[in-house]
Amino acid sequence: MAELKGRDFLKLLDFTPEEIRYLLDLSHRLKAEKKAGIAAGKQHLHECSFPGKNIALIFEKSSTRTRCAFEVAASDLGMGSTYLGPSGTQIGGKETIADTARVLSGMYDGIEYRGFGQEIVEELAAYASVPVWNGLTNEFHPTQMLADLMTIEEQLGTLRGRKLCYMGDARYNMGNSYMVACAKMGLHYTACCPREYFPSEELRRKCEEIAAESGAEITLTEDIREGCGAADVICTDVWVSMGEPDEVWEKRIRDLSPYQVNRTAMELAGEHCIFLHCLPAFHNAGTGIGKEIEKKFGISEMEVTDEVFESAQSHVFRQAENRMHTIKAVIYATLGGKSAE
Ligand code: CP
Ligand code: NVA
Repeated sequence: MAELKGRDFLKLLDFTPEEIRYLLDLSHRLKAEKKAGIAAGKQHLHECSFPGKNIALIFEKSSTRTRCAFEVAASDLGMGSTYLGPSGTQIGGKETIADTARVLSGMYDGIEYRGFGQEIVEELAAYASVPVWNGLTNEFHPTQMLADLMTIEEQLGTLRGRKLCYMGDARYNMGNSYMVACAKMGLHYTACCPREYFPSEELRRKCEEIAAESGAEITLTEDIREGCGAADVICTDVWVSMGEPDEVWEKRIRDLSPYQVNRTAMELAGEHCIFLHCLPAFHNAGTGIGKEIEKKFGISEMEVTDEVFESAQSHVFRQAENRMHTIKAVIYATLGGKSAE
């Protein structure tokens, strides 16, 4: 059994494939129990409910899924949670991350952090005496990876040997995290984008070493046929991430438009291929930013067409739901829940 009690969850690089497998199995079990109407802590997992425990949720960037997933998971596990938003706290303004970590450790049993550089969440964890969970940094989005792997397993049955193609900015949190997740779990990873958007040499090398153990292959290509051909999973993400300046939109649209996930990309892969997106997605001009982009650049769809987003091959809403089950598993395991076995 994986011993995850007391561990931080900062990036998948810190976890063995067996530990990731354990978290996925626990997620499937927690989901099944929730669907069966068994609130965690009430029956099967009765030794693992956490009455009297509380968790702090620090969000220096916006969130719908991650925040809701942590809050619902905490509630299902019988815990309290406190949301600390991008404004209205002392964090960063008057109080350092190191001091914040020590203050919150005195009141809470776990701390979630969403923000900017990975070094910030690593520093928070170094100073905190309770588990720290990364709810997204510029470099990594590890809780999202568990949900994505879970969704792939639900749809395709297995992970090992599957081909996952990521189209878009492959050097940011989602691209980096997919490369690590695939290398760990034995999926073949392809980043399909202009060379400038390839992941860093350092991370690629690290992932290739991990992939040598798992049997995964890592491919970086500018060629859409090579990228999408025979893919089992095609995924993408917004072209401009939270915290990036508005000025980059024009260049991103120019550079990444050829890598839009559209009917051609999905047809290259074949009917069996599923589409995933961490969300939020610009698949129409129905949002504030979407409308501005349409007005300025004359496009109403960006990283994915509405047709693909709404198609039967798209599993984005199941993927979003799985954020909650997987985040519950991370909280549960790191705070010392009973074995899922
Ligand atoms: N996918 C994801 O992290 O969504 P939120 O930004 O809504 O949390
Ligand atoms: N790359 C995106 C992911 C959002 C979940 C961002 O960082 O904004």
